[in-house]
Amino acid sequence: MAIKAVRGVRDILPSETGKWQRVEGAARGVFEAYGYREIRLPIFERTELFARGIGDETDIVKKEMYTFDDRGGDSLTLRPEATASLLRAYIEHGFQVEPKPVRLYTAGPMFRYERPQAGRYRQFHQANVEALGELNPAVDAEVICMLMDFFRALGLGERLALHVNSIGDAGDRAAYIARLLEYLRPHAASLCGECQGRLGRNPLRVLDCKVPDCQPVIEKAPSILDSLSPEAAKHFESVRGYLDVMGQPYTVTPRLVRGLDYYVRTTFEVKTADLGAQDAVAGGGRYDGLIEQLDGPADPGIGFAIGMERVVLLLGEQHQSASPVVQLIPLGEEPLRRLMPVARGLRQAGVATELAYGDRKLQRELERANRSGARYAVIVGETELAAGRAVIRDLRSRQQRDEAFAELPGVLLALAREARAERA
Ligand code: HAM
Repeated sequence: MAIKAVRGVRDILPSETGKWQRVEGAARGVFEAYGYREIRLPIFERTELFARGIGDETDIVKKEMYTFDDRGGDSLTLRPEATASLLRAYIEHGFQVEPKPVRLYTAGPMFRYERPQAGRYRQFHQANVEALGELNPAVDAEVICMLMDFFRALGLGERLALHVNSIGDAGDRAAYIARLLEYLRPHAASLCGECQGRLGRNPLRVLDCKVPDCQPVIEKAPSILDSLSPEAAKHFESVRGYLDVMGQPYTVTPRLVRGLDYYVRTTFEVKTADLGAQDAVAGGGRYDGLIEQLDGPADPGIGFAIGMERVVLLLGEQHQSASPVVQLIPLGEEPLRRLMPVARGLRQAGVATELAYGDRKLQRELERANRSGARYAVIVGETELAAGRAVIRDLRSRQQRDEAFAELPGVLLALAREARAERA
């Protein structure tokens, strides 16, 4: 039996890569417009980095990491997210001496052993942004606006909802968890099995449960916003004020808790109604204290990650991958030898060109040209060569014209330029 890809791990096929390139291009364009610089990080790290960074009690660290010993006996883990790696690099390379905030972005594959379903994979891709060393709530609002500008650049703004919340500082959260438990314990019997377990381990996650039976209990739960310290409450108020100033709509969702332990104060998520259960297309928040916890300076931070697969799913069928502009069809060896340098010249001039190899029937080659989406086919057989001519066929209008072979490069360049202008 032929070997197949691992469960939950997908190939991104040529028919989809056009959309991926568009999403990656939009991310790069928007992030750089806001002054973020790219950093490229390894896809595996010492296991300890994630255990300390993400939190021992999180689903990610407890159940979802791809961890293995290498041949030297070191425990390594395929990164389940990028924030911990990025902070490790920030500390390791002494970024803290740079003017604050230090603005960085990175993108690439992440690995989580989750139950695969539509929009949820074991290898998936994130575009990840972090602003480091800045406490001012203006940076929270700016980071959130940048995220929404990314979606707007892809024409997805209308289909997404921005949810923001504050989960306070560590002390606020401890006080809230005590209040939450006091409320939830008497209702334990009405909660699903999973949530009953969460009461002992991670009660905040109950708020995130999607099981219908749990909803009536969750709806009446106390709000974390009532447990914020005056400083955390003021910070959140400022973030909301700055979002208003920038004209960015949002919903305050006090039940928004995130699946990683490192968050404090501002948290946010972007959701869609168009992808079923996997409705979060991006999420993030503030993580003051985390850099210190990783033995770095006491620099605060805030950032987010976008789930690229989910964004590509939202784009639907609207974008095709790049197709050649010109298909050169020699009929025979000598026509092939004459068209090879023409193809090279067009490619060097940036015109996407496909060259057939002269050994198939014209009909087959024309079918291929039509399927590839090429705009022009150039047909040259022995007869055309002898007459110093070439046939150019517009595959859209199906009209043919006859040109001098020597003029081909100039004529095709001009046609390609016109085709590009039409497309734009
Ligand atoms: P996260 O919420 O775990 O946050 O992931 C961010 C996004 O990645 C999710 O909203 C989702 O779109 C996508 N995602 C997560 N798991 C999967 C999966 N198994 N398959 C497909 N997509 C997935 C973080 O990772 C934080 N590091 C974000 C952050 C950066 N916070 C501060 N800085």
